[in-house]
Amino acid sequence: MYEIYDHYASEYDALISHEDHENNLYNTLRDRFHWHGATIVEAGIGTGRVTRTYIDLVSQVLGFDRSEHMLEEAARNLAPWVGKLRLGPAEHTALPLPDGVADIFIEGWAFGHVAVDRPDETQAVARELISEAERVTKQSGTIVLIETLGTNTDEPAAPLPVLSHFYRALEEEHGFIHDVIRTDYLFDSPDQAEELCGFFFGKEMRDAVRARDDVNVPEFTGIWVRAQRAPGRTHR
Ligand SMILES: C[S@@+](CC[C@H](N)C(=O)[O-])C[C@H]1O[C@@H](n2cnc3c(N)ncnc32)[C@H](O)[C@@H]1O
Repeated sequence: MYEIYDHYASEYDALISHEDHENNLYNTLRDRFHWHGATIVEAGIGTGRVTRTYIDLVSQVLGFDRSEHMLEEAARNLAPWVGKLRLGPAEHTALPLPDGVADIFIEGWAFGHVAVDRPDETQAVARELISEAERVTKQSGTIVLIETLGTNTDEPAAPLPVLSHFYRALEEEHGFIHDVIRTDYLFDSPDQAEELCGFFFGKEMRDAVRARDDVNVPEFTGIWVRAQRAPGRTHR
């Protein structure tokens, strides 16, 4: 997937343009959080798909990603809001920001990559990612993490054991609670479903989507949320 993020941002965008055709992510994010006039820090902003759900409401977005290629696509996609957008290259764990700037810290489908890269260190990964998110978030702020609970599956579940461990660490060690939404894809044809899902998720998914032979590919997504000042926690 890193090769895709470094070289195929527009193809990635083509895939996700078919995702969440029922707008459940958009509706959930807009209903649940107080975006008006807020400063948002978004890690792993990619091509700006999550950003597009809230940017019209907020005061400013500080968006980061390790891939310059994805950031270029984000800048194109988010051009109508250029006056309130600052984009820059950064790792999730080294955001070039002072402490306590964000009313809302958000990431979508981006933290899980770090857990997958370091499967034997899930708890340390969760600690590093959450401590940087906490650092840049105001004491009154909220941390929102959006991660996969499976594509082309009929029940929500972490698609890899390492992600299941990571999600458990978020909940048991960092006090997050999560909701599950559907973010089903709707493609123009079964062939397009097979091609775009195969391009991003690989051969096994290509074969499974071909076997489904449908324009609809079901998907589940988890939204993990915590107030910065969570009960029983001490912060600097
Ligand atoms: C699946 S994409 C999600 C992009 C966007 N949030 C979205 O919802 O479409 C994952 C993004 O996270 C970025 N990423 C992965 N690991 C990262 C890391 N350790 N630090 C910064 N960015 C990272 C990738 O470059 C990619 O743009």
